[in-house]
Amino acid sequence: MEDHQQRVAIVTGASKGIGAAIARRLATDGIAVVVNYSRGREAADEVVRSIEAAGGKAVAAGADIGSPDGIPSLFQAAEEAFGGADILVNNAGIMSLAPIADVTDEQFETMVSVNLGGVFRGLREGARRLRQGGRIISFSSSVVGMYQPNYGVYAATKAAVEAMTHVLAKELGPRGITVNVVAPGPVETDLFMTGKSEAQLKAIIGANPFGRLGQPDDISGLVSFLAGPDSGWVSGQVIRANGGIL
Ligand SMILES: NC(=O)c1ccc[n+]([C@@H]2O[C@H](COP(=O)([O-])OP(=O)(O)OC[C@H]3O[C@@H](n4cnc5c(N)ncnc54)[C@H](OP(=O)(O)O)[C@@H]3O)[C@@H](O)[C@H]2O)c1
Repeated sequence: MEDHQQRVAIVTGASKGIGAAIARRLATDGIAVVVNYSRGREAADEVVRSIEAAGGKAVAAGADIGSPDGIPSLFQAAEEAFGGADILVNNAGIMSLAPIADVTDEQFETMVSVNLGGVFRGLREGARRLRQGGRIISFSSSVVGMYQPNYGVYAATKAAVEAMTHVLAKELGPRGITVNVVAPGPVETDLFMTGKSEAQLKAIIGANPFGRLGQPDDISGLVSFLAGPDSGWVSGQVIRANGGIL
């Protein structure tokens, strides 16, 4: 990362939740941000407006990362708006829970195409197009280490992201590009809250050493570190940000 050059980040799934918090935080760090959305165009525009109102730079870019041309179009957007990309945050993800016996082919294929296919294409495009000294940060989940019922396919897609990260870190080290994973525990977003009963939430909060759910900004600070100049010797790591649940 050259000091004189404006650094540029692509954040997938930045219209809400953890991705929106990451986009705002990276912009506060002085990084120009491509704010990706799939369905939430208005929400993404609002994230861009809030970044610009705070003096930062951002553009919204619609793309389905589950489709083959989604990720390349985000690099194109970064090149057109800001001249290139230094940081890719593979944040976008979906979760659909069911016992393995009940998972439909459609549920399986959709989670694989977004959580695994989207991140694979992000890693591939990042390897081809990020500038020297770049940063790739992908999202797994602490459930990979917990083997809980209902999380089989979701956890499998995230475990695959961790495996590819360890490999790509070795492939991109010679170019000074770091490749890491953030694996949050429960964070209070739509993805986590959807379908959870009061009793389930109480049990999850009670099981956390901090006695609360994570918030998007509990995660965005870690991404800021991994995206920034002080993390240059940290690569191939999976960092579980979860208040110490495992
Ligand atoms: N929340 C948690 O407890 C938790 C825990 C561990 C890991 N994670 C991981 O953290 C990441 C962010 O999750 P979140 O909780 O912030 O989720 P969220 O609130 O549901 O937000 C998901 C974001 O991903 C975008 N997205 C979904 N499908 C997409 C697609 N095909 N193409 C492009 N964007 C797409 C959504 O965009 P639109 O709304 O525009 O469609 C939205 O901006 C995910 O990878 C998730 O697996 C979350």
